[in-house]
Amino acid sequence: MSHKQKVRIGMIGYKFMGKAHSHAYRDLPFYFDLGIEPVLQTMVGRDKTSVKLASEKFGWLSYETDWRRLIEREDIDVIDIGTPNNTHVEIAIAAAEAGKHIICEKPLALNTQQALNMLKAVQKAGVIHMVSYNYRFVPAIQYAKKLIQDGMLGEIYHFRAQYLQDWIMDPGFPLVWRLRKDVCGSGSLGDLMAHSIDLARFLVGEIKEVTGMMETFIKKRPLGEMSGGLSASISGESFADVDVDDAVAAMARFENGAVGVFEATRFGKGNRNGNRLEINGSKGSIRWDMESMNTLQLYLEEDTPGMQGFRSINCTESVHPYGEAYWPAGHIIGYEHTFINLMHDFMKGILTNTNPNPNFEDGYRNQVILDAIEKSASAGKWMKIKY
Ligand SMILES: NC(=O)c1ccc[n+]([C@@H]2O[C@H](COP(=O)([O-])OP(=O)(O)OC[C@H]3O[C@@H](n4cnc5c(N)ncnc54)[C@H](O)[C@@H]3O)[C@@H](O)[C@H]2O)c1
Repeated sequence: MSHKQKVRIGMIGYKFMGKAHSHAYRDLPFYFDLGIEPVLQTMVGRDKTSVKLASEKFGWLSYETDWRRLIEREDIDVIDIGTPNNTHVEIAIAAAEAGKHIICEKPLALNTQQALNMLKAVQKAGVIHMVSYNYRFVPAIQYAKKLIQDGMLGEIYHFRAQYLQDWIMDPGFPLVWRLRKDVCGSGSLGDLMAHSIDLARFLVGEIKEVTGMMETFIKKRPLGEMSGGLSASISGESFADVDVDDAVAAMARFENGAVGVFEATRFGKGNRNGNRLEINGSKGSIRWDMESMNTLQLYLEEDTPGMQGFRSINCTESVHPYGEAYWPAGHIIGYEHTFINLMHDFMKGILTNTNPNPNFEDGYRNQVILDAIEKSASAGKWMKIKY
């Protein structure tokens, strides 16, 4: 018999993130001996046939068709929100009021006010909360954080990040929820640049001011629905206006004096998930690219003259963050492991009654920066960041 503490999960949404989170809960006890066993108690979706199928495929014990019913249930300890951005606020506040721990997908909300209301609700309820900025949980990123904290790069001067995808370049790609402002809040800004902002705050520190520029290349699209992952299908013959950004660029000043340059687009032909960053300091630099996520490129000034250059570190050794949980050195991990590592920190937070990072405070701060970039893009001026 297992003596592990059972944590019963109720997951809302069963497509892209529903799959990623389900997999992470299932694999977590396989790799980490935490003293906790996540129980895939109930999955929620509005369509009975589809949610039943998904719940069986992903290994859930039961399903519901109404998230409100899930939140009322006493056999649920955690609410996992994997639904479109406009639903996060109502679900999270109801879950907090019912005393459930919460993990919410990013961006936390549609705007700063919603994110602040969510933060206040979880703080008032005293529940454990986390926002799913999963790229923090790439071991190479965690190792980069350690190198920066240990002073290996010296004083940080530059943070530059690109997050480039290309899945909506076909003008016939439909106007799914990710392209409707009332449902997603913003386009490549909240979808992609939000991740780079989270990594910037994690690795370099707080941002004090930003300026932004946004563009929408395809102004009208046919109506349609997401069908899983980043695929979609057209429904009917109607077209509607696109009211979110296809591309966004931003500059930032950090409180510690560093400067940041950010670019995010869904029109970067050939880039499927080109999530990259570079940091330059007084003593060294790092480079990282999600499409080779296990590798951290490191340049150190202290290297012998003549032998200086970027070295490639395969962050799969037992000394690397989360390294011991997986395979022998050099036996690489992938996208899904970022969610396993994230769920590890979330479950540990529940076990120790300590909020993990990133939590709703980070989600709120991220949202303040997103809103400031959007305001700057329409006002044409720098915006101060005020939390
Ligand atoms: N961390 C990441 O890297 C990452 C990647 C993709 C998406 N996301 C975020 O995850 C969230 C979900 O995105 P996705 O890609 O999984 O979307 P998706 O379209 O693949 O799935 C959304 C799911 O929510 C369900 N849903 C929609 N409205 C609902 C409602 N009112 N009640 C109950 N269920 C509802 C849909 O049926 C579907 O199962 C979004 O906030 C998105 O920004 C994060």
